[in-house]
Amino acid sequence: MLDAIATEQGPWLLMRSGEIKPRDWRNRIAQATTDPAQLIVVPTIDGHVVGSLGLYPDPRSKVCAHVRILGMSVAEECRRLGVGSALLAIAIGWAQSKGVTRVVLSVLPHNAPAIAFYERHGFAVEGRRRSQFILGGVAYDEVLMARFLEH
Ligand SMILES: CC(C)(COP(=O)(O)OP(=O)(O)OC[C@H]1O[C@@H](n2cnc3c(N)ncnc32)[C@H](O)[C@@H]1OP(=O)(O)O)[C@@H](O)C(=O)NCCC(=O)NCCS
Repeated sequence: MLDAIATEQGPWLLMRSGEIKPRDWRNRIAQATTDPAQLIVVPTIDGHVVGSLGLYPDPRSKVCAHVRILGMSVAEECRRLGVGSALLAIAIGWAQSKGVTRVVLSVLPHNAPAIAFYERHGFAVEGRRRSQFILGGVAYDEVLMARFLEH
């Protein structure tokens, strides 16, 4: 599914199609399911994967223990049906139960659907790093968004 999204005319994701192999995904999922600091949610409809959401600790660990990094996607044919909102509700509930007080993410500046989605869910733009990413030889800025969680 993520490979298909990576081929969409956006681009929307910070990966190219085929870049992450099935074995790597299996390892990531296995790691997330055994690490209580991480969450991966994969919704399915009739056995087909229609989205994914991950919450990961910041690698700077101790000083960012209150923070999780969010990444999420919904299959193109299932967007605007509330799947993303349902996934995010699960993630926010889980994060609150873990004492997380801040969820952060990166989004590409032209990804208006995602920015609208995140703003609708209480995230705010906090900054922008210029030419932070090079995808397919093209430089893109990184838009930084975050939401503080109430307890
Ligand atoms: C961003 C994304 C996860 C949203 O998932 P979704 O399942 O479509 O979201 P929902 O149906 O729950 O949308 C909830 C609200 O978000 C906003 N929203 C979602 N898509 C939008 C769009 N294309 N344009 C404007 N607002 C949008 C709307 O307020 C929407 O409510 P509404 O449909 O009642 O107007 C999805 O568009 C996606 O996977 N995009 C491609 C991958 C991607 O960009 N991932 C994020 C990378 S940072």
